[in-house]
Amino acid sequence: MTDKIMIEKTENFLEDIHRRNYEDPFLQRKCEWSSWIDPTSRATESLNGKWNFAPDWYDTCRRAAWYKERTKDPEGRPLPLDFDWENWEGIPVPSCWNLWKPELLYFEGAGVYTRTFRYRPLLEKRTQEAGTLELERVFLYFEGANYRTSVFLNGTHVGTHDGGSTPFSMEITDTLREENRVIVSVEAYRRPERVPMDNTDWFNYGGIYRDVYLLRLPSRFIQRWFLRLKGDGSFSTLLFDVEVDKGKEPIPLFVRLRIPLLGIDIPVEVQGGKGSASIPLRKEPELWAPEHPFLYPIEILLEEKGIGREQTRVWDRVEDRIGLREIRVEGREILLNGNPVFLKGVSLHEDHIKLGKTTNPEILRSTIRHLKELHGNYLRLAHYPHDSRFARTADEEGVLLWEEIPVYWAIDFANPVTYRDAENQLSELILRDRNRASVIIWSVGNENADTDARLSFMGRLSKKARELDGSRPVSAACLVNHVKLSIEDRLAEELDIIGLNEYYGWYDPDLTKLRQLLDNSNPSKPVVICEFGGDARAGQGGTVEDLFSEERQAWIYREQLSILKSFPYIKGLSPWILYDFRCPRRLNRYQEHFNRKGLIDSDRSTKKQAFAVLAEFYRSIS
Ligand code: GCU
Repeated sequence: MTDKIMIEKTENFLEDIHRRNYEDPFLQRKCEWSSWIDPTSRATESLNGKWNFAPDWYDTCRRAAWYKERTKDPEGRPLPLDFDWENWEGIPVPSCWNLWKPELLYFEGAGVYTRTFRYRPLLEKRTQEAGTLELERVFLYFEGANYRTSVFLNGTHVGTHDGGSTPFSMEITDTLREENRVIVSVEAYRRPERVPMDNTDWFNYGGIYRDVYLLRLPSRFIQRWFLRLKGDGSFSTLLFDVEVDKGKEPIPLFVRLRIPLLGIDIPVEVQGGKGSASIPLRKEPELWAPEHPFLYPIEILLEEKGIGREQTRVWDRVEDRIGLREIRVEGREILLNGNPVFLKGVSLHEDHIKLGKTTNPEILRSTIRHLKELHGNYLRLAHYPHDSRFARTADEEGVLLWEEIPVYWAIDFANPVTYRDAENQLSELILRDRNRASVIIWSVGNENADTDARLSFMGRLSKKARELDGSRPVSAACLVNHVKLSIEDRLAEELDIIGLNEYYGWYDPDLTKLRQLLDNSNPSKPVVICEFGGDARAGQGGTVEDLFSEERQAWIYREQLSILKSFPYIKGLSPWILYDFRCPRRLNRYQEHFNRKGLIDSDRSTKKQAFAVLAEFYRSIS
């Protein structure tokens, strides 16, 4: 017998200190993309604010099932407890625990959050049949928590989510009381089988670092929708898909799509909870573009089919603001609304000196202001899905976005559990942002060695991306073939746009190789250089020979740009990176636990010389 079974057969087996696979029960109820609900325009009730918190150094909350709150023995006598909900210190939610207390800066374990909240049903609807009471349905919604989040409500496990940068929701209708205690255990262990795995070049912030809220929905509701132009170059047809939750007792339902500015008000049949429509446009719509970020207000209703001409009943209603535009690849061109576009961009981590991975509208707008000072029109949101408000802000400000999942470096490409995790994160990202006109490229990863397992894994991800959204090109940051000195990566066959990271002038000081590489290559698709650059500590003077000087970084940019601009198959740039960011791998005296390739210091205000070099280049080609 195996060791595990032997222990469980003995007399002295104590579950919480002897059981090793204590996580298994929580992995039976996973929150994944199929259950995701679009919260756009919903009245949400925020659960942000102070939660009582403790770093759970040995993951005891989940091992010992603290959430069951066994405070008395069977005879009712009080038991000694190792947790103390009401006397723990309050941590702000959302936030990264690493920046809450100095002793937690490098904490990558499990953290336990808890709070109480009151609940009273707002909506009590009587259906027409037999007066059965239609109660509202309530969901707990997390915009993001890193990495594995287990949620317990009133002593019951209600869901577990894997993935540090995508939203998830779980239904709590049947677990709610008037007075509720919610407990959340979030662990940020870096593990080889995860996505990302245990080795990255960025900081592993932990905790509930994005918004948490309640969603109250009717017993039948609109789960999610997708509206876009057909993408055939005619700008004359809209495609609309919608999914609804039909509730316990199916009744005849249909969806109504309204776009007043286009004179559209049409019913859409719903079968098996899904509906779709191809809608001819009488005239070409106002096309969304960076210089004209026009958004159409839309309204979607879920209606019950009336008998005859009877007034139908509206079960649910959502609204959104959608930019209509077309992005596609033709030969070596990237076409935005049929016109070739050059992506004048820069890469960006979700990393703030004071807030870590937590962001806010002011940070987003100041980032876009810096991009516009660069005369840029594009951002590569590396290496994971950023806050959902980024794409909404980019829609309004007219910024093009590359969005990416953290299939980064040496992922466990042969592991099916790893693939499911990656595919789930990709699906959650695409469902969350596919209605955002600003998002023009889905990236399935970054800098992965060209092995058979990786080709299969990332080829499947590319297909999944197109299955969920055929309206956008798929890319990834591929690697240079340094032996042949050419752009050669088998994954390129699975991509619409070839992303390329190269660091000539920095990791390889010989910049002549860049021109050779580009001369040797003859890609049949557009290439976007999604990383080049070099480290410089802000204020570090020196010559162009001095590594980590501003002069060296500026020289790299000048040399790179003068070479890259002479290759017409390069259709975009997103040099690495806009801001210096925390990075525990970077330990020399200029870096001090930061990656210093930023054009701006981590203070998000001190510009380095290279900033002006890139700004002048983008201004000159606008
Ligand atoms: C790689 C990688 C980045 C990393 C950068 C660097 O290309 O994609 O995540 O930070 O190089 O070395 O600074």
